[in-house]
Amino acid sequence: MKHPIIIAPSLLSSDFSQLESEVKRCAQAGADILHVDVMDGHFVPNITIGPLIVEAIRPHTSLPLDCHLMVSNPDAYISAFAKSGADWISIHVEACTHLHRSIALIKDLGKKAGVVLNPITPIEYAFEAAPFVDFILLMSVNPGFGGQAFIPHVLNKARRLRKFLDDSGYEHVEIEIDGGVKTDNVKDVIDAGVNIIVSGSGLFSGDMASNIATMKSHG
Ligand code: DX5
Ligand code: ZN
Repeated sequence: MKHPIIIAPSLLSSDFSQLESEVKRCAQAGADILHVDVMDGHFVPNITIGPLIVEAIRPHTSLPLDCHLMVSNPDAYISAFAKSGADWISIHVEACTHLHRSIALIKDLGKKAGVVLNPITPIEYAFEAAPFVDFILLMSVNPGFGGQAFIPHVLNKARRLRKFLDDSGYEHVEIEIDGGVKTDNVKDVIDAGVNIIVSGSGLFSGDMASNIATMKSHG
């Protein structure tokens, strides 16, 4: 199964004083979904967006909102993000004690569920989660900040994961990547089997429409 390429600008790189126009700019530039980085200052060393901000941007776009929860104890916040307008919700395997239960919580709320793996978290976690999720997000930086350098080791994880999914009856599960992806390395990422591309600094610096078109041309 060949999944379409989905481009997800990370709002972390947007101008937070102009979120309405930034969200519209992404849609006009050809974004498929919007990536929302939620950080709690505990699981990661930074604090960003809560459900109130998701609720505030929700009326200004029809694009799906892809909420990446970089928080400890995500179970406590999943329903608030679902209510505020999140369409996709992903949770870190490193933050969940009862991952199966947390995934079920997202699915019960009618949202697309994803699990996220930090760069050195063993890919076998994704193998075990595959029967229960819609997508798997591989971090290609240590989460917490935009503008960091891509960790190429993650390409091998993506290749292994795509092969496992295709060989095991989970072809429908999509692979997302997040961190340090730009127009100059996106081809390697797509060739490794990733189809959902998160990019912050790589899209917001320069002409976003042309950056998105270049990324899609590698699909
Ligand atoms: C990092 C975030 C990313 C970040 C990506 O913790 O999860 O979504 O915004 O930014 P770039 O593309 O600049 O690495
Ligand atoms: Zn993210």
